[in-house]
Amino acid sequence: MTATLEVRELRKQFSVGRPAIDGVSFSVPAGEIVVLLGPSGCGKTTTLRCVAGLEHPSSGQISIGGQVVSSPERGIMVPPRLRDLGMVFQSYAVWPHMTVRQNVVYPLKHRRIGRAEADRKVDEVLELVGLSEYAARPVVALSGGQMQRVALARSIVYRPQLLLLDEPLSNLDAKLRLRLRDDLRLILKQTGMTALYVTHDQAEAVVLGDRIGVMRDGKLLQMGTPDEIYNRPADLFVANFTGATNELTGILVEHGGQFGVVDFGGGQRGEAALLQRLKLGEKVRVALRPENIGIGRQDGGNLFPGRVMARRYQGTQTVYDIELFGVRLEALELGTAARHEIGVETSVALPREGCWAYRDTGPASHN
Ligand SMILES: Nc1ncnc2c1ncn2[C@@H]1O[C@H](COP(=O)(O)OP(=O)(O)OP(=O)(O)O)[C@@H](O)[C@H]1O
Ligand SMILES: [Mg+2]
Repeated sequence: MTATLEVRELRKQFSVGRPAIDGVSFSVPAGEIVVLLGPSGCGKTTTLRCVAGLEHPSSGQISIGGQVVSSPERGIMVPPRLRDLGMVFQSYAVWPHMTVRQNVVYPLKHRRIGRAEADRKVDEVLELVGLSEYAARPVVALSGGQMQRVALARSIVYRPQLLLLDEPLSNLDAKLRLRLRDDLRLILKQTGMTALYVTHDQAEAVVLGDRIGVMRDGKLLQMGTPDEIYNRPADLFVANFTGATNELTGILVEHGGQFGVVDFGGGQRGEAALLQRLKLGEKVRVALRPENIGIGRQDGGNLFPGRVMARRYQGTQTVYDIELFGVRLEALELGTAARHEIGVETSVALPREGCWAYRDTGPASHN
């Protein structure tokens, strides 16, 4: 049976340093995949280990399938083996002296499942992860991606109520990572399992997650669908971390509900989407995706005079450095031709839907 995971006001303070998790709340509805996304050290693994029961939280409550498995306040700490979880880690946790089949059947032996049924379950799961032909092979004779499939098969063969995955693709080479990433979502969806997946890779989060939670410094900044995270980031950090890497600073001078006007100085003004509650006269930072900057365009929103400072041709796309009233922005154009010459003065269009104004909370919001 697949189950709902509830995490309420979770905190973890190790003996040294600031809290690794600082009041995190979220839930994973039964059958959904939730991805926790954030930079190194933001508390992803610690959160996962608390859910698994491998780490003692300092406070807060964790429930799986309606049962409270952890609540320091109430003296509850259900041990990991009684939480009915599957886990997949970054390193290939397979037994090297066994075959694929022996690895995958192992958890069933512990659960006193009959031989015939165990064989059937193993066949089924090997088929699911695409390893049927490799059943008899020693795992040491597999590629990294195949070993990770074995690890996955072994953690889902007994159909735990919750699957926890900690950066399972990060040891694989780039091409394999993309393949397994796409496969993983299909596999998880076919099993209908509830899954909590952590990664620092935004592309992985978008492909895999039904919902994504963005974390920073032990806090959960935003939890939403990939569409919400990408098109309505709650703050500047979420915007930056998911690819809106350009920033313009200014003052909010007009407020019209969803959109407002920002004065960038030097007589330059433009419209921006207001994704936070902002006051007139407030200092703001406007985040922009490189792919939303239209070089040489006369239409498509706010128009400013700019100059092409540099270009990096990358085969199927070209990245440009554009100077816009003294600020350097990175712009990206798809296509196999680099269309703009270095040094040319050109108009630059910034669509107002793609200009996100946030409160200016001080220095260094970049990740
Ligand atoms: N056993 C420990 N003792 C003290 N501090 C710890 C311990 N484990 C983790 N931390 C600290 O807790 C914070 C969160 O660590 P965690 O491993 O959860 O980060 P993460 O988001 O998984 O990072 P990464 O992407 O690098 O795996 C870090 O600042 C880390 O140094
Ligand atoms: Mg980690």
